[in-house]
Amino acid sequence: PQFDLVIRHGTLATAADVFAADLGIVDGKIAAIGSHLAAGRREIDASGRLVLPGGVDGHCHFDQPTSDGSVMADDFYTGSRSAACGGTTTIIPFACQFRGQSLRAAVEDYHNRARGRSFIDYAFHLIISDPTEQLVGQDLPALIRDGYTSFKIYMTYDDMKLNDRQVLDLLTVARRDGAMAMIHAENSDFIGWLTDRLLASGHAEPHYHAASRPMAVEREATHRAITMAELADVPILIVHVSGREAVEQIHWAQGRGLKIFAETCPQYMVLTEADLHGHGFEGAKCICSPPPRDKANQAAIWDGLAGGVFHIVSSDHAAFRYADPKGKMVRGEKAPFNWVPNGIPGVETRLPILFSEGVGKGRISLSRFVELAATNPAKMYGLYPRKGTLAIGADADIVVFDPDRKVTITNALLHHNVDYTPYEGLEVTGWPQTVLSRGDILVDAGSFVAAEGRGQFLHCDKPALARPRAAA
Ligand code: URP
Ligand code: ZN
Ligand code: ZN
Ligand code: ZN
Repeated sequence: PQFDLVIRHGTLATAADVFAADLGIVDGKIAAIGSHLAAGRREIDASGRLVLPGGVDGHCHFDQPTSDGSVMADDFYTGSRSAACGGTTTIIPFACQFRGQSLRAAVEDYHNRARGRSFIDYAFHLIISDPTEQLVGQDLPALIRDGYTSFKIYMTYDDMKLNDRQVLDLLTVARRDGAMAMIHAENSDFIGWLTDRLLASGHAEPHYHAASRPMAVEREATHRAITMAELADVPILIVHVSGREAVEQIHWAQGRGLKIFAETCPQYMVLTEADLHGHGFEGAKCICSPPPRDKANQAAIWDGLAGGVFHIVSSDHAAFRYADPKGKMVRGEKAPFNWVPNGIPGVETRLPILFSEGVGKGRISLSRFVELAATNPAKMYGLYPRKGTLAIGADADIVVFDPDRKVTITNALLHHNVDYTPYEGLEVTGWPQTVLSRGDILVDAGSFVAAEGRGQFLHCDKPALARPRAAA
C-alpha cells in the first residue's frame, strides 16, 4: 500500500513488547508494523527514538466551574494543547454535575465547552453530586448506554460529597450497567474537624493543608470505599492515591480477590509536603488533595507502580493561576489554607516525569511505562484498542519520544495557561519530539502545529475491567 506516513527505524514499545520496526499509517490508522516498509508520502526518521502509543490521561480537569468563584486556568483549548505537547493524545476530563442540575444538562454544558476547541480526542467522565431517584433510575443508565461509561464519586468536598448509602446506590448502577466507578477517598468529617482545630490555633498558612488531611484520613476512606465495593460486588478505581497507607489497604483488598484498581499521579512521585512551604503564600502552588507526603511514601508509590498495585498514572491536572484573584488567590494571599482552590497543573509533564523517574531510574520497565500511561487508561475507560496501543487498525496516536533529551522543567517551556509549574527546576531525561493524533502531526520536532478543534469526542465502550467477579 501507499502509506500516508511512515515512521522508520524506531524502537516501538507496547505494554507487552519492545522491538525495532517501521510503522506505516493510512487514513489516520496504523496500517502496518514491519521491516522495510514501502515509502510513505511523508517519512519520519525515528532512529535512536522510541515510538510509543500516545498518552491517555484518564484524569484531568478543564474548564470546570467551581463553587468558590475561582476559575480553572485551562480550558479545552489550552489544556489539550498542553497535553499534546507532553505526548498525551487522549484526555478524559470531567463533566461535573452541580446539585440541582440534571446529569444530561451537565454533559451538554461540557460538550459546549469542548466542541471545536480541543486539539486531541476526548471523552468525559461524569461527576455525580446529586444522585436523585431520577438520576439513579434513568439518567445515569441512559448516559452509560450513550458512551459515558465512567463516573467519579467524591467522599469529601461539601458541594460534591456523597454519603455511604448514596455511594452504594451508585455502585449498584455501575455493576448492573457496566460502568467504572472512580472514588475520591478522603474522610470529609475528619478533614473538617482537623481544619477547625488548626485554624482555631492560628495555623492557617498553605502548608497546614497537609496537616488537615493526613494519611489516616485517606486510609480510612480508602478502606470504606473498598468495603462498599465489596458489598455492592463491583470493581472500583481509587483515584490519586498518595502514599503507603492507602496502598496497604488496596493491596490487602487485591489479596482478597477484590477487583480494586488504583491510580496515582506524578505529584506523589516527586513532590513532598515540604513543597507546601515556601515564601509567604507560595506553598499554595502545591495545594492538592490528597497532599503530597514524604520521601518514604514516594518509595511506597514506586513499589506499587513496579509491582501490580497501581493500574494507571494520570495527571489530575486541576490548574489555578497563582498570582491571580481568580486563581489560588481567589480569597487573597492572606486566605487560610482551606480557602485555596485544590489542584495543580501537570497534564504536560506526566509522561516525561514518569519516564524519567520511572524508566530512566530503573524503577519500572519501558513496557510498564506504556501500560500505566496509555494502555491501561484506555482499557479502564473502554477506549481500547482504538487508543492506548500500537496495533494494526488502532488510531495512529503516536509519540516519537527522545529518551536521551535532557530537559530542566520550567514554566516557560510549557503550553498550559498557568503561571507556574510545581516542577520548576526538575531535571528530566526524555521528552516527546513528534506527536501524532489519527495520523495528523500535532507536534513536529518540538513545534506545535496542530489545528484547533480537530479533536473528536469519543464514546466509550463499557470497560471489561468494570465487570464484577465471576460467581464462585
Ligand atoms: O486537589 C485536587 N486533586 N483537585 C482536583 C479535584 C480532585 O479531587 O481530583
Ligand atoms: Zn479527586
Ligand atoms: Zn511547617
Ligand atoms: Zn481530580
